[in-house]
Amino acid sequence: MTTPPPVVEARGLHRFFRRGGDEVAALRDVSLAAWAGERVAVRGPSGSGKSTLLMVLACLDAPDAGEVTLDGDVINYRGARDAARFRRRQIGVLTQSSSLIQHLTVGDNVRLAARLRGCGIDVDAALDAVNLQPRRSAWPSELSGGETVRAGLAVALVGTPRLLLADEPTAEVSSAEETELLALLAAVRPATGATVLVTHADAVAAYATRVVQLEAGRIVSTDEPAPS
Ligand SMILES: Nc1ncnc2c1ncn2[C@@H]1O[C@H](COP(=O)(O)OP(=O)(O)OP(=O)(O)O)[C@@H](O)[C@H]1O
Ligand SMILES: [Mg+2]
Repeated sequence: MTTPPPVVEARGLHRFFRRGGDEVAALRDVSLAAWAGERVAVRGPSGSGKSTLLMVLACLDAPDAGEVTLDGDVINYRGARDAARFRRRQIGVLTQSSSLIQHLTVGDNVRLAARLRGCGIDVDAALDAVNLQPRRSAWPSELSGGETVRAGLAVALVGTPRLLLADEPTAEVSSAEETELLALLAAVRPATGATVLVTHADAVAAYATRVVQLEAGRIVSTDEPAPS
């Protein structure tokens, strides 16, 4: 029996940014894979390249070298349109800042996400999954920090993406709420998908199936070897 390819795999990623006369190496030879059912937490000091890595995995930024595969298909080096189509169908992204459209209710944000992804949706069930059904008619500006994260999660999960990428989604909530949100995030992901989460949360050990440490653009440790 052959092992299925990882849901997402980064091979030898390099990403440089030019700042004034200097060149910043935000990613240096980063390789990482996440298999179905895995929840990989990426940690590291500020400026170590965590957000850059997520942007490249999301196809929202192109690496200067290396490649990203989704279910074995190389997805970077595609044209912008092609990358956007791929991302829309297969990748959910959750960021620290709200990705909600402010002039739509929570329910309509979920409905719009379903339309953009070309899938049907039971809005009540989608909101119920993140304990937010009672807030269906609320405007994004009326939500608490934790509710905002859960609404963003409901939007990111529309269409059950193979890959969920989350960049410090719990940075703005209390640590008790953070623990709850991480448990929710683990509960809502099906075993068929993979999640890569950037976080500083202390609760991360209970959440993640693997922790990867980045420093100055390099992976310096992984708490468990990836399956081969
Ligand atoms: N668009 C850009 N232009 C120039 N430099 C950038 C750009 N994006 C990131 N960088 C630089 O790349 C490095 C990595 O940044 P990145 O945002 O990935 O760090 P991070 O680990 O997410 O940090 P934080 O914990 O503060 O969010 C930093 O030195 C940053 O200044
Ligand atoms: Mg960041």
